[in-house]
Amino acid sequence: MASQHDAVEVISVKRDRGELSDSQIDWVIEAYTRGDVADEQMSSLAMAILLNGMNRREIARWTAAMIASGERMEFSALSRRTADKHSTGGVGDKITLPLAPLVAACGVAVPQLSGRGLGHTGGTLDKLESIPGWRAALTNEELFAQLESVGAVICAAGDGLAPADKKLYALRDVTGTVEAIALIASSIMSKKIAEGTGALVLDVKVGSGAFMKDLDKARELAETMVALGKDSGVHTVALLTDMSTPLGLTAGNAIEVAESVEVLAGGGPADVVELTLALAREMLAGAGITDVDPADKLADGSAMDHWKSMIRAQGGDPDATLPVAKETHVVNAPATGTLTRLDAMAVGLAAWRLGAGRARKEDPVQAGAGVVWHARPGDPVTQGEPLFTLLTDEPERFDRALASLEGGYDIGNGEFTPQNLIIDRIS
Ligand code: URA
Repeated sequence: MASQHDAVEVISVKRDRGELSDSQIDWVIEAYTRGDVADEQMSSLAMAILLNGMNRREIARWTAAMIASGERMEFSALSRRTADKHSTGGVGDKITLPLAPLVAACGVAVPQLSGRGLGHTGGTLDKLESIPGWRAALTNEELFAQLESVGAVICAAGDGLAPADKKLYALRDVTGTVEAIALIASSIMSKKIAEGTGALVLDVKVGSGAFMKDLDKARELAETMVALGKDSGVHTVALLTDMSTPLGLTAGNAIEVAESVEVLAGGGPADVVELTLALAREMLAGAGITDVDPADKLADGSAMDHWKSMIRAQGGDPDATLPVAKETHVVNAPATGTLTRLDAMAVGLAAWRLGAGRARKEDPVQAGAGVVWHARPGDPVTQGEPLFTLLTDEPERFDRALASLEGGYDIGNGEFTPQNLIIDRIS
């Protein structure tokens, strides 16, 4: 059958600031997934979209076409409601680890299909893979069975979900077209809607360590994603949260698991606890549960019990000793005063350069590598006392990591205005 459209026609519409029709969008996504639209044609279209945008109808149709390129999961047979969280990615962002078992402990099932990290933000699967024996790959049957028995699953998203996005995201990564809000929103939401969750909470990060450095852009992304979720029948809200400072006191893999376990044990850094509880409350409310306080489940040990069951169900030993880096390097505070700024991007780059993250998607990561910071903005620091501990198996990495921390923090005389962690809520 002769095709209804051709790639040059679709590209030209967007190049000339026109609106793509539903049928042009359906055709181009389908033909690209099949291999009938070439990478150079799709990258030209992606650049035209980056420059000229898409309206809400076009974004909704683009998202639907990417969902239709693969399988759609369905959890209605489960005995409990489902809720999921997506973070746009940040430094020290280990929140998924305590959050999934916590929400499960409150009676809502969490199917958290996650990815590996690329660049300076860590990947949830990379962190969990530092637990001896833990495996990320589950079949759909194993995923369902674990959701029913434990209530929480964090596993690798299978190849069947939104394959069009997989291909397009890889292309955008090498053609300077990742930053288009229409393409980010449709990429994230096509995977989350295809995953079949009933409620979704989006943690949209803003600041130096985030995708979106600017509040207006982050708000536009959040509003676009919330509208896409709602139009697809998924109860969706977004929190805009600060990522100018990294979360908690650690960025890496095993060290972030250890910090998450502290939170599950009722302790941990205050900002990690605050964000975990805020997101848990949103997920529970989205699933219709308003009479359970997740703080009680951290305090009474039931979130920890769910964590242990979740790790064991995927072959991991939650009581095993976590891997430790072979080499450490301590950076002492150069002055006495108050830490007034700690830059998320500087810390994220340092952790990445120490081996906690990867430059290409096939690179391995080191389980023990990363950065520990011994003070958060607002804390007192003393000259000569440890400010950072750098961890790696390969000491030749220290110099470049130290270079990325240079200029990444300020020590002042006590004047300090704290920044709200949760900046806004979009529903
Ligand atoms: N994460 C995604 O899954 N897609 C994007 O486009 C950006 C971030």
